[in-house]
Amino acid sequence: MKNVLVLGGTGKTGRRIVERLQQQGHKVRIGSRGATPKFDWEDQSTWEKALEGMDSVYITYQPDLAVPGAKEAIEGLTKEAKKQGVEKLVLLSGKGEREAELCEEIVMNSGIGCTIVRASWFSQNFSESFFLDAIQYGVVALPLADTNVPYVDADDIAEVAVEALLSEKHNGEIYELTGSEFYTFRQVIQEIAKATDREIDFSEVSVEQYTQMLKEHGVPDGYVWLIGYLFTEVLDNEENQVMTHDVEKVLGRKPRLFIDFVKETAKTGVWNQKVEA
Ligand SMILES: NC(=O)c1ccc[n+]([C@@H]2O[C@H](COP(=O)([O-])OP(=O)(O)OC[C@H]3O[C@@H](n4cnc5c(N)ncnc54)[C@H](OP(=O)(O)O)[C@@H]3O)[C@@H](O)[C@H]2O)c1
Repeated sequence: MKNVLVLGGTGKTGRRIVERLQQQGHKVRIGSRGATPKFDWEDQSTWEKALEGMDSVYITYQPDLAVPGAKEAIEGLTKEAKKQGVEKLVLLSGKGEREAELCEEIVMNSGIGCTIVRASWFSQNFSESFFLDAIQYGVVALPLADTNVPYVDADDIAEVAVEALLSEKHNGEIYELTGSEFYTFRQVIQEIAKATDREIDFSEVSVEQYTQMLKEHGVPDGYVWLIGYLFTEVLDNEENQVMTHDVEKVLGRKPRLFIDFVKETAKTGVWNQKVEA
């Protein structure tokens, strides 16, 4: 049985990893600002206690490996992990994020066994993250309405990460995770409207209009930059409009279908909750 630190252990992928590891009887420590001991990416003095006694670490960086300061943080964390005798690191990265590759290299060259999990955009961005409020409100305006995205399910990412955390056979591997179909934003909103039997107004805006809207809603500048980067450099990039087979390679089964994610999420009622404008 392993001692595993799951950074972001209450988040979209981390929570699912924690559940799976605990079901298998492993000892899990959540690494987050609300956990005890506390782990905060912005306070290096919290890292040593969080890493103490751990065999493996799942790393999700906040808010994204592409932001300034990420490289230094990943460098500091891997150094501390080495000092503490950690044997395995699994880094969650973004597929097609060139800036994130610098952080991947630091982990790969750390001298600790490691696996990189590069994920495409998550299906759960529509149910647990960025786009949920607008869907609940019933009015969605997004750039790149007709761009194909091979959404990957957070449950598939979690299952791959657990395999990587527990088995040395994945050391040195970079897995690129996508789903097995493409969906555009326009199609996603249509499917969610159909599954929830609601009317959801959808319109396309430019990236500039979208980031301006975020600023007007008080979103901090750093986040506005990140969202702009994710839409332009990551989403609007032909290299990312490619499907991979790494979920099947690791798990021996096909990725979860996006439409199954939509149907099952609709049953939970999360998209029907009312929000104020
Ligand atoms: N969403 C996508 O489509 C996508 C695609 C590819 C890659 N990624 C990458 O996935 C990573 C995020 O993973 P995720 O979506 O599973 O997590 P998430 O849902 O964004 O994570 C939230 C978790 O992070 C913790 N957290 C937030 N700020 C923190 C801080 N300053 N220090 C320590 N913990 C902090 C939260 O707990 P507390 O609030 O208690 O601290 C919570 O456990 C990012 O690096 C992102 O770039 C995302």
